Amino acid sequence: MSISVRDATSDDAEAIARLCAQLGYPVESRIVPGRLARLESDPNARSLVAEAASAVAGLATVHLRFTLNHEAPIAQLTLLVVDEAHRTHGVGRALVNAAEEWSRSRGAKRFVVTTALRRADAHAFYERLEFKHTGRRYGKDFS
Ligand SMILES: CC(C)(COP(=O)(O)OP(=O)(O)OC[C@H]1O[C@@H](n2cnc3c(N)ncnc32)[C@H](O)[C@@H]1OP(=O)(O)O)[C@@H](O)C(=O)NCCC(=O)NCCS
Repeated sequence: MSISVRDATSDDAEAIARLCAQLGYPVESRIVPGRLARLESDPNARSLVAEAASAVAGLATVHLRFTLNHEAPIAQLTLLVVDEAHRTHGVGRALVNAAEEWSRSRGAKRFVVTTALRRADAHAFYERLEFKHTGRRYGKDFS
């Protein structure tokens, strides 16, 4: 299957909404362009979609964070989801590779991702892509 990765645009709003819903974060497609615009205006963020067979098959976002304790920015994969109909055909790998390539080109020396404990499939996927399990994530929802 031929897979290409490109920047997401507002024309992808419906596909992005569908993919966010598959990840467990439903959003109306009319809301998506505003969210995309926020990321587009951030030079340290990028939104990517993967196309397979002329359809949007996956979505990823990546952010660069500058910190006081590291000279180089740290890249974080902040969203990754592949359409249920296109999984295990290399789409996720293509998106991660594109995000990594951009992060390296911007000077990052480290690439991180956090993933929920319940996402066992994602854990296996990241380990297959040579990410090491090095920490825990703690979270708190503001009420
Ligand atoms: C996790 C996810 C992004 C993987 O995408 P994908 O397109 O199916 O993965 P790929 O086909 O690119 O797989 C890349 C490698 O990982 C392996 N892999 C993928 N899913 C796997 C799984 N569940 N168990 C074991 N290995 C897996 C593949 O076999 C492949 O290995 P290979 O290249 O040596 O053959 C996709 O399953 C998904 O969207 N899951 C639901 C959302 C999610 O969990 N997102 C991550 C949130 S942090």
